[in-house]
Amino acid sequence: MALLSIGMDFKRPLRLLALVVVFGFLLFRYNPLQESRYSWMLPMDWSLNGGYRPDILQYVNPLIGTINGGHVFPGPTHPYGMAKPCPDSMIRGENAAGFVSDDSPIGGFSHLHDSGTGGSPSMGNFPIFAHPGCPSDDYTQCNYTITDRMLPRVPGTAEAHVGYFALNLTNNVRAEMTASTRTALYRFTFPSTQDDTSISRDTRPNPPISPLLLIDLQDLGQTSLSASAGCQVYAESGRIIGEGTFMPSFGRGTYQAYFCADFRGAAVRRLGTFIGKEARADTTYLNAVDRGFQNPSGSGGAWVQFERPEESDQIVARVGMSFVSVDQACSNAEAEIPDFDFDRTVRDVEMIWSEKLSVVELDTRGVHPDMQTIFWSGLYRSMLSPQNYTGENPLWESKEPYFDSFYCIWDSFRAQHPLLTILDPNAQAEMVRALIDIYRHEGKLPDCRMSFSKGFTQGGSNADVVIADAFIKGVTEGIDWDTAYEAVISDAEVTPKDWSLEGRGNIEAWEQYGYIPVDDRDLQGNGPHSRTVSRTVEYAYDDFAIATLAKELGHETDFAKYMNRSGFWRNIWNPEQEDLYHDADGDVQRTNFKGFPQPRFKDGTFKYQTTRMCSPVYEPHKCYFDTAQSTYEGSPWLYSFYAPQDMKGLVEVFGGKQKFFDRLDYYHSSGIADMGNEQSYLTVFQFHYAGRPGRSSYWVNQYIPAQFNASVNGIPGNDDCAMGAFVAMSLMGFFPVAGQSVYLLTAPFFPEVKIKSGGPRPAVIRRVWAAGQEEGGIYIQSATLDGKPYTRNWISHDFFSGGGELELVVGTEEGNWGTADEDLPPSFPHERSWMDGLGT
Ligand SMILES: *[C@@H]1O[C@H](CO)[C@@H](O)[C@H](O)[C@H]1NC(C)=O
Ligand SMILES: *[C@@H]1O[C@H](CO)[C@@H](O)[C@H](O)[C@H]1NC(C)=O
Ligand SMILES: *[C@@H]1O[C@H](CO)[C@@H](O)[C@H](O)[C@H]1NC(C)=O
Ligand SMILES: *[C@@H]1O[C@H](CO)[C@@H](O)[C@H](O)[C@H]1NC(C)=O
Ligand SMILES: *[C@@H]1O[C@H](CO)[C@@H](O)[C@H](O)[C@H]1NC(C)=O
Repeated sequence: MALLSIGMDFKRPLRLLALVVVFGFLLFRYNPLQESRYSWMLPMDWSLNGGYRPDILQYVNPLIGTINGGHVFPGPTHPYGMAKPCPDSMIRGENAAGFVSDDSPIGGFSHLHDSGTGGSPSMGNFPIFAHPGCPSDDYTQCNYTITDRMLPRVPGTAEAHVGYFALNLTNNVRAEMTASTRTALYRFTFPSTQDDTSISRDTRPNPPISPLLLIDLQDLGQTSLSASAGCQVYAESGRIIGEGTFMPSFGRGTYQAYFCADFRGAAVRRLGTFIGKEARADTTYLNAVDRGFQNPSGSGGAWVQFERPEESDQIVARVGMSFVSVDQACSNAEAEIPDFDFDRTVRDVEMIWSEKLSVVELDTRGVHPDMQTIFWSGLYRSMLSPQNYTGENPLWESKEPYFDSFYCIWDSFRAQHPLLTILDPNAQAEMVRALIDIYRHEGKLPDCRMSFSKGFTQGGSNADVVIADAFIKGVTEGIDWDTAYEAVISDAEVTPKDWSLEGRGNIEAWEQYGYIPVDDRDLQGNGPHSRTVSRTVEYAYDDFAIATLAKELGHETDFAKYMNRSGFWRNIWNPEQEDLYHDADGDVQRTNFKGFPQPRFKDGTFKYQTTRMCSPVYEPHKCYFDTAQSTYEGSPWLYSFYAPQDMKGLVEVFGGKQKFFDRLDYYHSSGIADMGNEQSYLTVFQFHYAGRPGRSSYWVNQYIPAQFNASVNGIPGNDDCAMGAFVAMSLMGFFPVAGQSVYLLTAPFFPEVKIKSGGPRPAVIRRVWAAGQEEGGIYIQSATLDGKPYTRNWISHDFFSGGGELELVVGTEEGNWGTADEDLPPSFPHERSWMDGLGT
């Protein structure tokens, strides 16, 4: 609960504020009604005209992105936490992370999820479900299978904030949940009015309150391999343990998960197991082999029925998780939540997030509270994954950290990892170490990895960029750079057996032709022979990342070799390609824009792919691993802008700065840009390379809040923990060129941003209004860094690691700041200092 220093004029109300803060703090701490704290916090902060930063957690709305394809996990979790409990919505397509903000029925509450992923649901293992009682008080008449038991929620009862989620089901059960790092904690409240004790239990009209809790061995994607699922329930305590084997959601292989559930609050009445619809009280364990655990519903597990809870109508269920063993699931639970104290567990999560997020301080005077919600919620989401499974890896013994849910690096290298590098460098270092350890034991760095399984490679080998980015930004803690270097060279040189899961394909052709010919067949390994355009531009950038490491680590020959390959993006540029499209009447139209990346044959001739294919305006869903298309999840238009290592060269290929600017502006205004996917982020800021940094500001202000906002539907695509990083940095006034010590500067949305990332001084970005121009401008007019004029439209990582004060004068018209050639960001093949020693 820090106060922001914001200058002289604010000193007087400070004492009054301090009182309000202390009072507010007490109210907040001791108010048993979770809901009420929002109602007083928001207006008070607002009426005080900002400046005072109250509990920033109130601005985290975990429900943003829980509909409209955001696939955000809204439940309680620690930063990078393994336990991620939330209700599971039974609706296909939307429920990748479990809960969806619509009116779909709820099938249970499960303890592991992945946030923001595309495609099919990830994890959602061992859902727990609560019946207040069974019809006629007969346990066999309760509903057990997922299709039978699922129920609508009571509209308007879903409530989510940091460390806490709650929902009422229409069976009158309220389910609340919180989490420690590896354990989910549920508090079920049962209706208190239904029991009439004057009538005997068995003949009462409504089922009497005798809660039945069941745990199903399924997962959300119904991938459980029943042959290896099993569970046991213990008569004395009601403890349920179990395990299962499941499949990853965007990869190949299987993983095993284990749980250990204990209950508090009511006496055990009876217990048993169920297979499909059939429940039995005489069987306390299910073993796949012994019992032939096969049934069409896929549901099966254990249940415990309780006497009516003595006090408070509540039962607390603690579910410890592990990927190693049942014993470890139990010991995780016992170590993390020995006291079953729900409220304490919530407070712990709140404290940890408060501390994590407090590395940024905002002065919010004059800024709409929605902007704070967008900012803090985005920052929060960017720290949900990769998940920290250190100590839970069953695949190999290692002293290195283990992180999972790199889901996928194709998405996360562009914004999320660069953000973590600034705000949480220790976590970033552990993640890089985990990547290197995965290389050591699996033979390759992942491009995507979830649930201890190899995920699908969407484009290049983008871990190369993550590793180079960490190196040049001084994230070195405990990292074995020799092995890191070996790993990236392996990506570039050694074809894996199956390059749909790791590494690169068509490596020989890459070297021979300088691009991936559309008619090349890789005989070294297997993979989909598609995406030759997007893979070419990505491989070129990945090679630039390798060149960077080679230079830094003193491998001069490699540096020359990979710098050369980093120029291969040029080789698929068809200067004659026109931009043709059908208008609303079906007539062929063309723009004046000529020159696009196109698929190319071995003999050097080009094949034609519609320049708008797989953009929002034309066939948006054709470009996945489809061998007919040459661009992945995007159009030739999109990939035409991708040569971050040599933007000067790219601008020349477009025909100069004005032509480049016109095309980029057309791209953003014509509907071809798809902000719902990560490759578009950089294009918002690439006006910088045309000497028009103001236009980057303009487009940032278009996309936020029109496409990124504080509504539940406020994310344009699945989050990937990356959309949050994009908005957080955009709002602070910079965006990284991942893999380079380069951040492109735009006007921040707040009067002041202070980042304390562990260096000697904080990095402060301050916005002041230009004299004589109305407030509310978005264009940087001039800047000073530590009091000295600063004309470059970008800044290097030294600003964040060493600290400094960047003051930006902002006005309503695009000015001249940052427009001169010498003020543009570096374009490496053209930088003498970079190429030194190569004789260029
Ligand atoms: C049990 O499932 C059946 C079939 O789906 C449904 O008709 C019935 O209402 C359910 N009962 C309860 C108590 O939910
Ligand atoms: C939700 O459940 C709780 C606990 O039973 C109850 O007090 C509350 O009134 C319920 N809310 C609604 C809207 O049904
Ligand atoms: C990851 O988990 C390990 C083991 O619990 C812990 O020591 C480490 O600090 C965690 N790392 C992060 C970044 O939270
Ligand atoms: C790479 O090297 C080849 C062979 O020396 C040369 O022809 C080519 O121009 C170089 N390409 C780049 C982009 O430097
Ligand atoms: C919020 O963002 C979503 C997703 O991009 C968009 O569909 C919606 O129109 C936006 N809402 C507002 C009020 O701008």
